[in-house]
Amino acid sequence: MKFFIDTANLDQITMAQSMGVLDGVTTNPSLMAKEGITGKENILNHYKKICDIVDGHVSAEVISTEYEGMIKEGEALAAMNDQIVVKLPMIKDGVRACKYFNDKGIKTNVTLVFSAGQALLAAKAGATYVSPFIGRLDDISTDGLNLIAEIRMIYDNYAFDTEILAASVRHTMHVIDCAKLGADVMTGPLSSIEGLLKHPLTDIGLAKFLADYAKGND
Ligand code: G3P
Repeated sequence: MKFFIDTANLDQITMAQSMGVLDGVTTNPSLMAKEGITGKENILNHYKKICDIVDGHVSAEVISTEYEGMIKEGEALAAMNDQIVVKLPMIKDGVRACKYFNDKGIKTNVTLVFSAGQALLAAKAGATYVSPFIGRLDDISTDGLNLIAEIRMIYDNYAFDTEILAASVRHTMHVIDCAKLGADVMTGPLSSIEGLLKHPLTDIGLAKFLADYAKGND
């Protein structure tokens, strides 16, 4: 399972990268705005900084909602760095643009996916990644994890290459459940990754090992 971090915060990206378990980064306009990054040039520069920190794929979202605009923006983003994956919204023009980029060998991430039907369309259009938003489904009393299971079944039925990128992951149990269900990738906050470290028996065991070692050195 690949681990992506879902943030535009450079300190958090650096921290996750330094753990040695980071496979990529996802961003969106809201995450950029949260870091105070606004305006086209600043956003493009920020993508470059992120690419300098990590080795893997960096999703960069187009703002346009019509086909020609998406193509123009996506081509410019992809030309910046090989690590860039063009993030497209799950709307009709986004699906068309996904097919265009796939034919050109440009990687894509179809975002804002909330149903199995949308995920099927993204795969048909040749998306590199599909991003079902599990946390936002949970927010409206719908089972986000069930969507991961549905997409896994459909993709396996037809051997689609599109990778399931579980997005809107909010906490560590989302990560574990997505791994059980066979999501190819998860993207979440740094806390969802760091939470995987925690177990009280690890802390108790380590304290005992260190105390026993210290006895021999008294
Ligand atoms: O990866 C998608 C993500 O950025 C949305 O997360 O927590 O705003 O639903 P959230």
